[in-house]
Amino acid sequence: MTGPQRRPIIGGNWKMNTTLSEAVELAGALAASLPPERWTEVVVFPPFTNLEAVRESLGESRIGLGGQDVFWEERGAFTGEVSAEMLLSVGCKHVICGHSERRHVIGESSEIVNRKVRSALEGELKVILAIGETEVERHGGKTESVVSDQLRRSLEDIPAEIMRDVVIAYEPVWAIGTGVTATPEQAQAAHAFVRLVLVEMYDDAVAEATRIQYGGSVTATNAPALLGCPDVDGALVGGASLKPQEFAAIVGAQERILNGG
Ligand code: PGA
Repeated sequence: MTGPQRRPIIGGNWKMNTTLSEAVELAGALAASLPPERWTEVVVFPPFTNLEAVRESLGESRIGLGGQDVFWEERGAFTGEVSAEMLLSVGCKHVICGHSERRHVIGESSEIVNRKVRSALEGELKVILAIGETEVERHGGKTESVVSDQLRRSLEDIPAEIMRDVVIAYEPVWAIGTGVTATPEQAQAAHAFVRLVLVEMYDDAVAEATRIQYGGSVTATNAPALLGCPDVDGALVGGASLKPQEFAAIVGAQERILNGG
């Protein structure tokens, strides 16, 4: 079971889905579906264009709002980019940095991710830092070296006392949007390894306190086993977060684990 000191966090990454009206409808349905009495922290990450409307739609549901990405400069001539301050100004408290689609489709390096992480934290956003190996890397026995390298480079110059504002999302690239999920054993092993790297980078206290979400084809069906792993502190959910009942069931699974099954 998740260590009692770590509050689980379930994120809904809507990616490039939802027009304005679809987003408002989804947010309203989510607000109505989630278990009202819950300890699990829940955050949704709609497209930038829908952030403000979603915030209004979420109302008093205690569902947090986050951006899917952020740029590292505060303002200026950076066409198409969005700053931490802009995200804060529409009610975001969180932002995802280094999602695999940014790393592998857009081509972001860990150095770029690190600039984003630093500017987000300086801008008082909480960061969901996504890391994870590709299928080729896993089959080549490189999972640990890739994960360790992404962690160290993405978190360069982030001091221990700021790590309370960082959540790690371990998302094996081969499991994202594929319907193939890591087994609970694979997820647990990777999460335990991430914690080991955090001990080396920081200390035991930071490693124990840092929340590590699993991401990659999480559904209501596989959530209980994945979320039940001792080092898994929640999930970052893509496809299933667009289905309110399914997402609510994932949050419900987390709550049941917290309540002892
Ligand atoms: P998925 O996406 O749940 O659709 O696999 C997860 C993610 O990209 O965060």
